[in-house]
Amino acid sequence: MSEKTLMDHAMGIRTRAHAPYSGFQVGAAIRAASGSIHTGVNVENAAYPEGICAEAGAIAAMVAAGDTVIAEVAVVGDAPDPVTPCGGCRQKIAEFAPKGTKVTMGNLAGDEIVMTIEELLPHAFAKAQMES
Ligand code: THU
Repeated sequence: MSEKTLMDHAMGIRTRAHAPYSGFQVGAAIRAASGSIHTGVNVENAAYPEGICAEAGAIAAMVAAGDTVIAEVAVVGDAPDPVTPCGGCRQKIAEFAPKGTKVTMGNLAGDEIVMTIEELLPHAFAKAQMES
């Protein structure tokens, strides 16, 4: 049997999402430079804007586990087209993802789009801009 892809990990975790308000469950998986895989799901609550995205959860799990370099990301939801990370999550991914890092976006039908982090967030605001 072939090895699980990062998208398989994102798909596998997705149904643990707590999304009773939107009804839209999202799964995310990160492969860190160390090789470790970290997963996350969206977690909503009754104060709607306080919910967190699946990507943010995966990043938090990654940092808590001691990894700080993202090698690859996968995100998936039940949508007609592949689910793309929101603007805030693009910034959160960019914090830990070197240029060229691939983000694979998918849906349950198996459609996939692969883009680099700089394609998803061109001209990203970064630490270097605060250095005078
Ligand atoms: N959501 C994610 O978790 N990741 C994305 O990339 C897009 C949106 C969540 C946030 C909210 O819980 C639900 O999907 C609907 O916006």
